[in-house]
Amino acid sequence: MRIFKCVLFVLIIFSIFGCQGKGGPGEVEVLHWWTSGGEAASLAVLKQLLEAEGHTWKDFAVAGGGGDQAMTVLKSRAVAGNPPAAAQVKGPQIQLWGDEGVLTNLDDVAKAENWDAILPKVVADIMKYKGNYVAVPVNVHRINWMWCNPAVFEKAGATIPTTWEEFETACQKIQAAGLIPVAWGGQPWQEATVFETIVAGVSGTDFYKKTMVQADPAALESDTMVKVLNTLKMIKQYTDPGAPGRDWNLATAMVIKGEAGMQFMGDWAKGEFTAAGKTPDVDYVAAPAPGTAKQFLFNIDSFIMFKVAKKNEAAQKAMARLILQPKFQEVFNINKGSIPVRMGMSEEPFDAPARLAMKDFSESSRSGDLVPSMAHEMAVMPAIRGAIMDAVTNFYNSDMTAEAAAKQLATAVKAAM
Ligand code: GAL
Repeated sequence: MRIFKCVLFVLIIFSIFGCQGKGGPGEVEVLHWWTSGGEAASLAVLKQLLEAEGHTWKDFAVAGGGGDQAMTVLKSRAVAGNPPAAAQVKGPQIQLWGDEGVLTNLDDVAKAENWDAILPKVVADIMKYKGNYVAVPVNVHRINWMWCNPAVFEKAGATIPTTWEEFETACQKIQAAGLIPVAWGGQPWQEATVFETIVAGVSGTDFYKKTMVQADPAALESDTMVKVLNTLKMIKQYTDPGAPGRDWNLATAMVIKGEAGMQFMGDWAKGEFTAAGKTPDVDYVAAPAPGTAKQFLFNIDSFIMFKVAKKNEAAQKAMARLILQPKFQEVFNINKGSIPVRMGMSEEPFDAPARLAMKDFSESSRSGDLVPSMAHEMAVMPAIRGAIMDAVTNFYNSDMTAEAAAKQLATAVKAAM
């Protein structure tokens, strides 16, 4: 009897602690910067799915579009030896975190869920450190979009532009009608977002690759770059005095409300239109930015996972697994404005802008016009991105000539290499 009680005791202890290590409920602290209406609605889907499996979601939101503030906070938490279980980190930065030896190996989830087969190889490679999965991708965003309010264009007798010349004509008409042509968010990452779109739209894919991916100093100070910078400055006269410091989603709201004609922004802006109950091609029009119809500047969101206490491992891996499951890929991306990163998903539930993005994603990957976003940390290491962003913002917010700015751009990038 005593022996039996002893065995029972051991079994109970094993079931409690053994279960926690393998599959019991746990907590995942998630660092992210998705705080706008559309972003928050999208992330809530993941929280619900995780909670439905019995786990706890500890939200660690750091406001600030583009994530620069979130990355600063993440570094200080990691330095203090207390990183969250999961953090929104993208592109080449994943390798830097891998070098620190602090990430969870996700190969068991990846193998069970067949990630090598359901992800495009280029994406899978970004998520791996030394051949092991340490990150999980969520979506594919396209940067080079222009979000237009057709009622504003109609009121002004303007047409949606496909070239930079047509863009100026449209802006003049909208201004003459007493409305704001361009809703502008005056923050460095937003200015960099428009800047790289112009690089693609004014000078083409090869020049984009030379400057935004290879960071070639000669190309950065070339006459072509001067032309790009002058185009960026041209837009300024069509923005309003409230632009400095404005958050991107407030700029989107100006287009939604019909105060402004258009905004240049990645397709997370569509998440705001969706959250406001707006319908594409009725209440708003999504068009590629002038000159960029065949290009696709891509931005892939992903979460890296840090090593966690045994009791939270199952919860962390459940989050990794859920992110790539078809249902989440569908609902999340519909809300977020992006397209699924998981291959083979049906287009059927997606709207017209998402379908256009899906078509352009595959066409651009065939034609060589699928390029990583510099502004959104897919193309170059953080130091080079920082140098480019500083130079662009200094130029946009001063009286500096485009010639001087191009030189400064090349010098700053050389120093950051
Ligand atoms: C991007 C991110 C998007 C979106 C945007 C604005 O860097 O990839 O998902 O959230 O910032 O915050």
